[in-house]
Amino acid sequence: MTADAAAGETAGKPAPAGPSRRSLIGWGGAGLALGAAAAGGTAAALRTGGDASPAALTGDAVPFHGAHQAGIATAVQDRLHFAAFDVTTTDRDALIKVLREWTAAAARMTAGHEVGEGATGGLDELPPDDTGEALGLKPSRLTLTFGVGPGLFEKDGKDRFGLRDRRPKALVDLPAFPGDNLDAARSGGDLCVQACADDPQVAVHAIRNLARIGMGKVAIRWSQLGFGKTSSTTPDAQTPRNMMGFKDGTRNVSGTDTAALDKHVWVGEKDGPAWMTGGSYVVARRIRMHIETWDRTSLKEQEDIFGRDKAEGAPVGKTRERDEPNLKALLPDSHVRLAHPDSNNGATILRRGYSFTDGTDGLGRLDAGLFFLAYQRDVRDAFIPLQSKLARNDALNEYIQHVGSAVFAVPPGVRDKDDWWGKALFA
Ligand code: HEM
Repeated sequence: MTADAAAGETAGKPAPAGPSRRSLIGWGGAGLALGAAAAGGTAAALRTGGDASPAALTGDAVPFHGAHQAGIATAVQDRLHFAAFDVTTTDRDALIKVLREWTAAAARMTAGHEVGEGATGGLDELPPDDTGEALGLKPSRLTLTFGVGPGLFEKDGKDRFGLRDRRPKALVDLPAFPGDNLDAARSGGDLCVQACADDPQVAVHAIRNLARIGMGKVAIRWSQLGFGKTSSTTPDAQTPRNMMGFKDGTRNVSGTDTAALDKHVWVGEKDGPAWMTGGSYVVARRIRMHIETWDRTSLKEQEDIFGRDKAEGAPVGKTRERDEPNLKALLPDSHVRLAHPDSNNGATILRRGYSFTDGTDGLGRLDAGLFFLAYQRDVRDAFIPLQSKLARNDALNEYIQHVGSAVFAVPPGVRDKDDWWGKALFA
């Protein structure tokens, strides 16, 4: 950032590109002025319609505090680093300390600040508080979304942290679905953090720093990098395409449709337990695609499988992507016909997945696919019935396999600086 830009910010006019992380190093008065600029960036994001605003494509910060956690209804960012953690400590207070420190670090990182004293601001004799690889990068709409898995409440029959009675009824262990080929090393987890940002380095930096803070008390069980968002929560934006070349996310819950979010995504007051009101449940599935087989499949068959055409994304018999599908015109085993809410008593999920390619499978094929993420109010009447039907009938099954799985309860948003991830759960 130039001196002129900094002077402009001091006068209360944030530079259009938003604050850079390097600019936010706390050097006395300059640091304070630039900190105010960061707050200005946040306010700008709020002014443009809340955290779901597609206008935040400028590298701005997404507000961290609020009624709901950011990263769910938020306009989907370009990159993902999702991490599941095992809690390795048996000490409840030690776990609470990690969660408090995580929350403080998350609030700073999402605003574009360094963790604690920063990468270079502490004592020379100590390792720095921040690992440093995000210095100079913009906030990049980083969101950090926190969840708790079934194992936090009970593991191997043990009530590890006195939380057994607080487990939400909706946080069920997912059943085995036909065709599942789950790898335990890529499944489950006591805690999760979903980091989404427009810059992969910002997302990776965030997960790395949280893992570092938790060292000795929590350990990363598995993590997944994602690119090329495969779903849209912003209907006005161009729908992204998945690794099969099809537009993905056309019919999704929009991040600005508060009525649909309240009905299908946010846990309501009457749903219980109270600590989950305003939260959600996320299902993560690592879905491997047999893309080599897919690439040898005719265009006609590819389109039949989804029930939409490849170029426009229009449903069979219609011309435009946003035209409502006439389900009867689609083949009975087509993905869209099977997954549509009208075929599932209205069951609706908010999809927020990403593509992945993780090298090869050792057999000359790419280990590629969709890291599927779905948020919902209750998995028992959303993901579970949907996937039960898809696993049995979907024509797409010939080309995919579910190889990782996890479910987490995602508490409501962190209200203010005295609140922290899980505070109401541990109260
Ligand atoms: C690799 C696996 C998958 C691929 C490639 C895929 C791809 C697609 C595509 C291309 C569409 C049509 C465009 C759209 O409306 O977004 C779609 C729709 C949809 N998919 Fe998937 N999907 C996959 C897995 C799943 C799973 C596991 C579920 C849920 C259990 C699911 C649920 C849905 C739903 C609810 C819709 C919207 C249906 C509608 O309302 O018309 N998908 N998917």
